[in-house]
Amino acid sequence: MIRLGALALLLVAGPMLAATGAQAQAMAGVPDPAQARVDYMLKCQGCHQPDGAGNAINTPPLAGTVARFLTAPGGRQFVARVPGVAMVDLDDVRLAQLLNWTLQRFDASHLPAGFTPYTPAEIATLRRQPLRLDRAAVRAALMQHIGKDR
Ligand code: HEC
Repeated sequence: MIRLGALALLLVAGPMLAATGAQAQAMAGVPDPAQARVDYMLKCQGCHQPDGAGNAINTPPLAGTVARFLTAPGGRQFVARVPGVAMVDLDDVRLAQLLNWTLQRFDASHLPAGFTPYTPAEIATLRRQPLRLDRAAVRAALMQHIGKDR
């Protein structure tokens, strides 16, 4: 009887504990982390790699560095206007979530204090002005500002 009672308690409490754990790690502006993860796998990791490392030849790393752009003037806009982000075939809601997830998954430690997650409305505005030929110059200026070499 006691064992059964303990089992019943586990069955009830287990999922509750799991839910609490998930909530403790909740990411700002990411209502559905599983969806964000799948979107990253489908739309981003082919270039940026599953671990966000990028490659030394033609794709910058996200891991351990991407949130540093948010500390420079214009950096918040830049991150949403790079072609791979702005032009991806996801709607504004999914893209806002994916970008929030990318920043927190790969570079939580560099997020500025009081980081405000991107909203779908902000993404809608920024992605209407994707960076094209000007992107190298914009990026170089930001890199200089944050003292980043790659
Ligand atoms: C076809 C390859 C490719 C894909 C797919 C791609 N990116 Fe990129 N990404 C790049 C390259 C190359 C840059 C460097 C800037 C540039 O030249 O466009 C970049 C830059 C970035 C940056 C700015 C960081 C920096 O150092 O310049 C972010 C943030 C980013 N990508 C996120 C994403 C996300 C999120 C996705 C998925 C929605 C994605 N990228 C898809 C190739 C890609």
